[in-house]
Amino acid sequence: MKILVFEKEEHLDAYVGETICDFIRQHDQATIGFATGSTPLGVYQYFIDSYQNKKVSFQNVQAFNLDEYVGLKPEHPRSFALAMKNELFSHIDILPENIHALNGSKEDMDEECQRYETLIEQNPIDIQILGIGMDGHIAYNEPGSPLDGACHVVDLHQESIESSLDYGFDHIEEVPTQGVTQGIGTIMKAKQLIMMAKGQKKADLVKRMIYGEVTSDFPSSIIQRHPNVIVCLDRSAASQLKEEDYEKR
Ligand code: GLP
Repeated sequence: MKILVFEKEEHLDAYVGETICDFIRQHDQATIGFATGSTPLGVYQYFIDSYQNKKVSFQNVQAFNLDEYVGLKPEHPRSFALAMKNELFSHIDILPENIHALNGSKEDMDEECQRYETLIEQNPIDIQILGIGMDGHIAYNEPGSPLDGACHVVDLHQESIESSLDYGFDHIEEVPTQGVTQGIGTIMKAKQLIMMAKGQKKADLVKRMIYGEVTSDFPSSIIQRHPNVIVCLDRSAASQLKEEDYEKR
């Protein structure tokens, strides 16, 4: 596992952004997994700037979102599908038919999960961007999720419901109580993972993710078992790590 700790947030965002832009430029087809949440927003801005400055095109990119709320239509203002569109996809030249996501408003969610799992099997993800939730989740794999799980519906834990208030919900009662997510097994099939974390509130979580036991009680710990993972942190998020374990940037 490569752990990089950046002095400045814009350098972290530019490193992740440029790593992915480079991959896209060097391949005829690239399949990228996108995460919502506040952590990758600077990377998405880097993609938009790079596209506007004609340094990269997303026409040959297939995009896969990680997760969604159950019960929200893709066009719902608080859906992750709309967040990704507003934060990134509507500002770059990605083809609408190449944007893939779980639809949380389907009547038969098992069928929807199977559809998405099969689609990812057919289009293996080259690089998956990840963040870490306040209870250690990745995507919406809450503590207790099977380490080899496929796409599935999940009951959101209280911590995740409360964190959703940061994503524009006005009242806790408006936050859906279930999510639908790529499973940990699905995520682990990506060829490369880029895990990002920023801020002091993530420091203990990052420590447990990197040094802790690999356990379904703390889903993000699974990244220790992935053969190709880069962890990109700011100084605060890395503050509980031993200096000899990371590279300073
Ligand atoms: C949310 C999303 C995850 C995201 C995580 C971190 O629950 N479902 O995909 O990675 O929380 O969010 P943030 O970057 O805002 O801390």
